[in-house]
Amino acid sequence: MSGEVANNVQDLSIQENHIKKSIHKEDDDHVDPWNVVSKSDTGVDYDKLILKFGSSKIDDELLARFEKVTGKPVHHLLRRGFFFSHRDMHSILTRYEQGKPFYLYTGRGPSSSSMHLGHLIPFTLCKWLQDVFNCPLVIQLTDDEKTLWKELTVEEAYKMGLENAKDIIACGFDVNKTFIFSDFTYIGQRPEFYRNMIRIQKCVTFNQVKGIFGFDDSTVIGKIAFPAVQATPALSTSFPDTFGTKKIPCLIPCAIDQDPYFRMTRDVCPRLGFDKPALLHSKFFPALQGAKTKMSASEANSTIFMSDTPKQLKNKINKHAFSGGQTTVEEHRELGGNCDLDISFQYLRFFLEDDEKLEEIRRNYTSGQLLTGELKKILIDILTPVLTSHQEIRSKITEETLQTFMTPRKLC
Ligand code: TYM
Repeated sequence: MSGEVANNVQDLSIQENHIKKSIHKEDDDHVDPWNVVSKSDTGVDYDKLILKFGSSKIDDELLARFEKVTGKPVHHLLRRGFFFSHRDMHSILTRYEQGKPFYLYTGRGPSSSSMHLGHLIPFTLCKWLQDVFNCPLVIQLTDDEKTLWKELTVEEAYKMGLENAKDIIACGFDVNKTFIFSDFTYIGQRPEFYRNMIRIQKCVTFNQVKGIFGFDDSTVIGKIAFPAVQATPALSTSFPDTFGTKKIPCLIPCAIDQDPYFRMTRDVCPRLGFDKPALLHSKFFPALQGAKTKMSASEANSTIFMSDTPKQLKNKINKHAFSGGQTTVEEHRELGGNCDLDISFQYLRFFLEDDEKLEEIRRNYTSGQLLTGELKKILIDILTPVLTSHQEIRSKITEETLQTFMTPRKLC
């Protein structure tokens, strides 16, 4: 067995364990905020998910309208279909055309002190949307959620949240337009947030959250109440310093695993006199071992952290990135590789913006001209500066800058 195949076999067992830990119906992909498991080697069937979740496909018509309304070409994450599904995006574009305000809302559940490459997907699009629409953005750090779901103390989750905030700031957000908050701090600071939380909790029964999130009689009560915490930032009055008492709708970019929270939020909002939040859903950045699961902070070997050194990055890709190539060089030259399965190629689709170059790599790998080791090297060369420049920017973020981002205030 070649080294590469041995690695793939070993990594499949890591993936199997991951899958075994997840609850899923045998005949379906399973997607919820805590587990993503697909039965196919090429990943989740996203068209099926749109039908299951009742969202809408981001089609050419929406992308064309996006470009027409904003006067800018759409981001490659939209153009290449990584953001594939939406709810009410047309209403947001209409508001923009009419000069009416809206804000962006997204978040991070701090379960590790460094974020990973997958997290860059929603935050990169958020940064682009903030620039294009010139609108405020609120970012929730759900340190409370991770304390409830993970083996973390309140203090540990809070601390990780602050570390993650630096990773988020390093994505380039405008300090004049961005408010980042930790649930542990902010909910005690502003009664308006807590009051909205209770208003939401009053609208949702245990039966409903059981249905949406799969809670049961042995679920701790903190988890049962938590979905209201993630719903609350979709109500603009939760941020009196920023929006006063105005009821302004929001647009939430996230991966589709977060949709259950916002299905609940969209059900409640009209009952409280607010517009339903709009959503842009992304696909999952896959685990190194293959597209059956998403990259996740809780599986270190499946994950490239933003804090990884160039050496760690190189080792992880060479050792763990699932190969769509053949077992021997001779076979590979003859039969070619499978780009749909190959994780290095899949990662390039996110990070290599040049369409022509990407297509050339696809052609050469499919024909067998390009070997797996060579493809991995291309990926390593592209990702190394992504990580090192992120780390450099992050290292220059001072406590003062962090404090400014995390202070409730008026945003431009
Ligand atoms: P968290 O910390 O799991 O993830 C943060 C954001 O990253 C997305 N994400 C991914 N996207 C692509 N590929 C992946 N492999 C991947 N892993 C995670 C998530 O969908 C999310 O957008 N409960 C939330 C925190 C939160 C939030 C929000 C997220 C609070 N309010 C509003 C989005 C919008 C969480 O634990 O995210």
